[in-house]
Amino acid sequence: MDDRESNIERSPLDVTRRIPAMIVAAAMVSLATGIAASRGVAAASEAARTEYLPSISDLMIATIQPRHERLWQAGQNKNWEFASYELGNLHGAFNRIGLAHSTVHDIPFPEMIASVTKQPLDELNSAIRSKDGIAFAKAYADLTGACNSCHQALNHGAVVIRVPGRQSASDLGISDASRD
Ligand code: HEC
Repeated sequence: MDDRESNIERSPLDVTRRIPAMIVAAAMVSLATGIAASRGVAAASEAARTEYLPSISDLMIATIQPRHERLWQAGQNKNWEFASYELGNLHGAFNRIGLAHSTVHDIPFPEMIASVTKQPLDELNSAIRSKDGIAFAKAYADLTGACNSCHQALNHGAVVIRVPGRQSASDLGISDASRD
């Protein structure tokens, strides 16, 4: 094999070799772009997933209902320090629900919360400060009435909240078959 012959043979081979290489390179660029684009979509849907907004009922179950029950237990045990702590948390949880859901059925939710809960929360606060069990029981019944008045006003009258009793520490009136 002399030099010239090998040159002739090599050069077309190089060209044909280069073309697929360019195609492959181009394909890799578009593949990379595609991957980046699909990564972008994945990132967006991941963001949507982490931005999950708990519904009003999710928040009622998670942040309001257990605090309403604990507040009652604290009052029963005359643990005024814990009652005061839990009352503050209940108040804060109502504020946060209003921030998370600014309207419900086109009604401004924070205003609605304040209009029904402000008075009983204030009364509970003064009952706890004066360690007055009787005033506490009255204010607690008023707060429970406020829970129900909002549920009824917003067509969720099936959600009946009650003052927990000796038989059950639950504040949910779903075991009451005699209601109807
Ligand atoms: C200002 C209005 C408002 C007040 C006050 C209110 N709630 Fe609610 N609550 C709602 C609405 C609206 C729903 C139903 C949400 C839905 O299902 O879309 C609800 C639902 C609930 C549920 C049912 C959740 C479920 O899915 O089973 C519970 C439990 C609850 N509330 C507890 C309470 C308690 C306890 C209080 C008082 C301490 C209270 N709520 C005060 C508006 C209110």
